[in-house]
Formats: sequence, C-alpha cells, structure tokens
Amino acid sequence: MKKTILSGIKPSGIPHLGNYLGAIIRWKENQDKYNNLFFIADLHAITVPQNPKELKNNTYLTASILLAAGIDHKKSIIFIQSHVPAHSELAWLLITIAKMGELFRMTQFKDQTNKAENKESIGLGLFSYPVLMTGDILLYQADVIPVGEDQKQHVELVRDLAQRFNHRYGKTFVIPEPVIKKEGARIMSLDDPDKKMSKSDKNNKSYILITDKPEIIRKKIMRAVTDSGKTIKFDTKRKGLYNLLIIYKIFSGKTESQIEKYFKNKGYGDFKKELADLVITKLSPIQAKISYYMKNKKLLDKILADGARKANKIANKTLAEARQKIGLVEISPR
Ligand code: AQP
Repeated sequence: MKKTILSGIKPSGIPHLGNYLGAIIRWKENQDKYNNLFFIADLHAITVPQNPKELKNNTYLTASILLAAGIDHKKSIIFIQSHVPAHSELAWLLITIAKMGELFRMTQFKDQTNKAENKESIGLGLFSYPVLMTGDILLYQADVIPVGEDQKQHVELVRDLAQRFNHRYGKTFVIPEPVIKKEGARIMSLDDPDKKMSKSDKNNKSYILITDKPEIIRKKIMRAVTDSGKTIKFDTKRKGLYNLLIIYKIFSGKTESQIEKYFKNKGYGDFKKELADLVITKLSPIQAKISYYMKNKKLLDKILADGARKANKIANKTLAEARQKIGLVEISPR
C-alpha cells in the first residue's frame, strides 16, 4: 500500500525559485510514489500580518503554480487549509496537551524572539504554529513527513504530541516518520547567499518569483552577488556562485563536471547570461499555465472545492475520533 504524505506551502507571498526547486519539483516527481496531499497553508501565513487582498491573490497564485508545475489534481489532493475547519479544531485540542516549555524551545521561535525589538508583542500564532502544523499532519494519518534539517525539531514535536495524545486517550494517531531531505536544493538569497531565498524578504532582488517577467529574471540574475573569482566551479565556499550553479544544475539536468567543463573558458558574465536564458526558458511554459488558471478562477475554484471535499472527508474522520476519545459530546447532525 502507498504511504500517505502531506506537504504545505504558505501563501505569504508569491512562490519563488527556492519553493519551486526545493519543494514543488520534488512533490511533482513523487506523485506516483505516495498518496499525496498538498495544501496551501493560509492559516500559517496569517501568523504574521498579511494584506487581505494580497493574501487572497497569493492563495490563488500558489494553487495555480502547483497545478502549472505539474501537480495533478486527479492524482493528488490539492486544497486550501482553511477550507478544512478540522485543522483549526484539532490544533485547539492539541494545544490543550502541549506544554509552553516545549514550544519555547523551538529554535525557529527563539530566532524570531531574538530578532524582535519588543518581545511582548510577538504573536501567539507565531508561538503556537508548530501545534497547528502537528494537527495538519495528524489529521491525515500521514506516514512520512519530508523535512529539511531546520524542521526536524518540529517533527519531534509532532511525534511527542501524537504519542502523548495516544497515551492519554488511547491510540488515535499514526506516529509519522520524518524523512530528512537528501542534498536538499536549498536555494539562497541572490543578494545574500548566507540567507535562504524567502518570499517575505523585504528586498525583492533577493528572490526570483515564479511569475517574474523575463527581463526581471535577467536583471536579478545579472546582479546576483558572486565573488571576485574567475572560474566557474562548484565550490561551496564561493556561496553566491555555488547557489547560481545549483539553480543551473537542477534546471539543466547536467552533472557538475559537465557544467564545469562547458563553462571552462567562460567568465561570470557568460555564465549568468546562460543561466538567465535557462531559467526564463524553463519558467515560461509554467508561467503560461499560471495565467491560464488565474484567468479561469471558476476552474480553479472547482479543483480546490474538489480537493477540500476529499480532504474534509479524511480529516473529519480523524477529528471525530479524537473528539470522541477526549469525551466531547457528538450529536448528529451538528
Ligand atoms: N530557499 C528555499 N530553498 C529550498 N526550499 C525552500 N522552501 C522554502 N524556501 C526555500 C521550501 O518550500 C516549501 C514551502 O515553503 P513555505 O512557503 O511553507 O515556507 P517557508 O519555508 O517559510 O518559505 P519562505 O519562502 O521562506 O516563506 P516566508 O518568507 O513567508 O517564511 C517548503 O517545503 C520549504 O522547505
């Protein structure tokens, strides 16, 4: 039997090359291997303030990008998180068994706290989102969670809370196994290769959005930070160049030695120009499909409604079991 896998993406901006190369491509490739659920994590996005109009548009755009990138709604369940109210409800049930201490220990939260000028103003949503994430996973009885190293701690929390619930109320949740992504394509910011490429980065030159026009893509790549070296080589110490080379490698499908050989007598300018051409060529058919979906909102709504119906069916079953185990009264229909 196929294992169940759940992956989410926040509509906290327009998805960028990092989201695409680090996650979406892989989701598409693994579609036949697993029972897949892909959700647009709007409830996670609002843990930091979002402009309502932009949030709505980014949610539709993110759904369009998943479809345009080749995620097939007939093979995979694609839905918007807030269309499945069980996510919020299970999060509350889990909050009642979570401990403040274990959430305070989350390094991502600690990082946010350290950056904040006024610690008192840090949102409760940001503090408790790992519990929402726990509910996301447990609702679908997912067997596998593909995560990066930086998410390992959150998966431990998922396992701890699931075990605690099962121990207290009786076996309810599958305890998921984390699968640490191998040679994760972690795409870095174009203006600071020490930081990962992020939607919420204030500097719009730091990322390439999937929807960026060709001339914008070219400009951003040409001005991407590199170093004063001359040769085109995969060297993790030359972080800016290395990041661009990884993007080239994934899009071209060539090996590192093939790429180094090809660029042997060429400089950074030539390389960047060819990289820009490649990125533009690869993104262009996806962009055409994104526009198609964005112009056909009725079709998009239909796909998302279908996904929500399927997701609700699975999630409500798990939620009902959790409610019953806790001793909450059920009346039908409620
Ligand atoms: N730079 C990246 N390189 C590789 N993978 C990345 N992902 C995100 N950034 C990179 C992966 O994309 C998937 C969806 O991510 P997300 O939207 O749920 O959250 P995120 O990781 O917080 O993404 P951003 O772009 O950095 O958003 P903001 O700025 O809003 O926090 C995940 O699988 C993620 O690993």
